[in-house]
Amino acid sequence: MDEYAELNRASWDERAPAHAASPDYAFEKFIADPEHLSSVVRFDVPLLGDIAGLRGVHLQCHIGTDTISLARLGARMTGLDFSPVALGQARRLAAEAGTEVEFVESELYDAVQALGGERFDLVFTGIGALCWLPDIERWASVVADLLAPGGRLFIREGHPMLWALDEHRTDVLTAEYPYFGLPDPVVFNDAGTYVQTETQFEHNTVHVWNHGLGEVVTALLGRGMRITCLVEHQSVPWDALPGQMERIELDEFRLADRPWRLAHSYTLQAVKER
Ligand SMILES: C[S@@+](CC[C@H](N)C(=O)[O-])C[C@H]1O[C@@H](n2cnc3c(N)ncnc32)[C@H](O)[C@@H]1O
Repeated sequence: MDEYAELNRASWDERAPAHAASPDYAFEKFIADPEHLSSVVRFDVPLLGDIAGLRGVHLQCHIGTDTISLARLGARMTGLDFSPVALGQARRLAAEAGTEVEFVESELYDAVQALGGERFDLVFTGIGALCWLPDIERWASVVADLLAPGGRLFIREGHPMLWALDEHRTDVLTAEYPYFGLPDPVVFNDAGTYVQTETQFEHNTVHVWNHGLGEVVTALLGRGMRITCLVEHQSVPWDALPGQMERIELDEFRLADRPWRLAHSYTLQAVKER
């Protein structure tokens, strides 16, 4: 495994149990109510449409709350992630919540092989997924190879303009990090995480990459995908700029002051031509 992936996986392995125990991921709601859906998927439903009966894969599924939500909307879902600890939490939740989902451990770039060459009607991903991947063209190849002809990619992701901003400033919006995908990662050393937790973490060095919107679209077009939806949103499902954001409905966050200044996240859909 590459050094970046080892570092990043150690960070995710350590954070997964804290995420599963936090009120933000709300495991208890999934267990108590068989119809409960994650806020992320509830946000997605208007653009996602009816997925009943589809064969779907959720790439970088983390602890499975969105994967389980998609299964509850009627898709037959597999979740894939490279963190065995995250997948352990995901399997436990699926069992306790009584929702049938398969979970597969794999590095993203090995997903086609790990999934046994199966082809899917729906590839679902996002919400902090692309930033962990150095090569967006290789990612687009994996997505295209996983889709059956006529199958669809659905991604809602943090906007690259948001990822470029300095999260430490609380007064102004400052472009600090690369907007474009550069060969070298941005290296963060951050002892925290994005949920409420008292856990102290030790594996805190991570390598991340931004991917400009044009780069993502062009990579998919280059793999024979037809873009069918590209919507930019004035909110994102985590407190991305602490001190500048307010929480709104569906556990989304947006700039408290004139949120229309910034595309916070985007939804992109693309279909693999028959
Ligand atoms: C921010 S989480 C995704 C969040 C997810 N949407 C959620 O909130 O449940 C990112 C996930 O990507 C996974 N990941 C990061 N790099 C990966 C890689 N190279 N291959 C596979 N999974 C990876 C991590 O283990 C983590 O579970």
